[in-house]
Amino acid sequence: MTTKLTQEQNLIAEAARDFAQNYLDTDILDRDKKELFPSHWVKQMAELGFMGMMVSPAYEGSGMDTLSYVMAMEEISKVDASTAVIMSVNNSLVCWGLEKYGNENQKNTFLRELASGRKLGAFCLSEPEAGSDAAHLKTRALDKGAYFELTGTKNWITNGSTADLYLVMAQTDPALGHKGISCFIVEKGMEGFEIGPKEDKLGIRSSDTHSLLFNQVKVPKENLVGGLGFGFKFAMETINGGRIGIAAQALGIAQGAYEHSLAYSKERKTFGKPISEHQAIQFKLAKIKTDIEAARTLVYKAARLKDAHQSFDVASAMAKYYASKVAMEVTVEAVQIHGGNGYVRAYHVERMMRDAKITQIYEGTSEIQLLVIARSLLN
Ligand code: CAA
Repeated sequence: MTTKLTQEQNLIAEAARDFAQNYLDTDILDRDKKELFPSHWVKQMAELGFMGMMVSPAYEGSGMDTLSYVMAMEEISKVDASTAVIMSVNNSLVCWGLEKYGNENQKNTFLRELASGRKLGAFCLSEPEAGSDAAHLKTRALDKGAYFELTGTKNWITNGSTADLYLVMAQTDPALGHKGISCFIVEKGMEGFEIGPKEDKLGIRSSDTHSLLFNQVKVPKENLVGGLGFGFKFAMETINGGRIGIAAQALGIAQGAYEHSLAYSKERKTFGKPISEHQAIQFKLAKIKTDIEAARTLVYKAARLKDAHQSFDVASAMAKYYASKVAMEVTVEAVQIHGGNGYVRAYHVERMMRDAKITQIYEGTSEIQLLVIARSLLN
């Protein structure tokens, strides 16, 4: 596997960097404080082709590889991890799954809308009593002949109130356990489908996270994705790729915190010289830089394996586990380097520290990543 980046990959990263620094950066402090969803920027990301990056142009996607997507995610997350997760869910959890497992009709009807960014998607697996233990979800889909009837509750759904289309995992045959779970496309506005309360979160506050309520929602038969009983496999396969996106988000948060810290250390003076001239700060910067480089190697490796159509589930678990750990550690150190200023909003790093935490939780906690890795060693 080559480790060289292509000209196209570098150009995509540059476009994402320009967009993040010239636009997202202008209002992220305000959006974070007031929990404002960035509808205006999501629209602009759609114009840039960032909402369906890996989808074939045949379905109005940008036809790029996973590594390009990762590099764009990293640049956007450097500035604004909230907007990054909106993009990540649409790209790697919703579009990818539909392109891989949807039928032609579903791709033409739904994937085109999502990949072009005309519509936004959400991925609904977690429930109040089924987070890490996803196989024990309770949302039920009853076969009513002409349609399926969905009843249940989903929790912590990214793009919860802002999405138009929802991929919902529901149990169609409890006797079969995880092999009885199926995946359905639910559209906003279907009778019985209600958006539940918005979560008041520690971080990624400009993204929109809700619970969702399904009360006897009639879902057309043609909205079943990948066949009856394929839902758990669908979710796991999709999340394998999603974890690379979240690893890239973590990497970007860490890189952003590092860049803020490096610049700050050259400006801020103590004891008559810039703090960058104190060895205590130099060692922190050196460690941060090394940890980020190590994380980037794992994240890019996972993306390259996926692009090469090789097995990448363990690589993506390693990338997410490690990059999210680095993001947490680096942002804590970034606040420390900034001292008192690190604790106030205007300097960004306190937000980055709050944003970093979720990367150790969603799309599989760090403990779930270790479980996936450990199982691969012992099988
Ligand atoms: N890739 C592909 N297949 C997988 C898989 C993976 N990573 N993990 C499990 N499977 C398959 C197994 O091969 C098995 O298939 P068969 O039945 O054909 O043999 C099946 O799934 C069941 O596997 P297990 O027996 O291992 O199931 P388990 O219940 O013991 O454990 C788990 C499964 C790995 C713990 C899984 O439940 C898991 O990953 N949990 C975490 C859930 C998660 O990541 N949630 C995130 C929600 S999405 C989100 O956060 C989105 C957002 O909005 C940002």
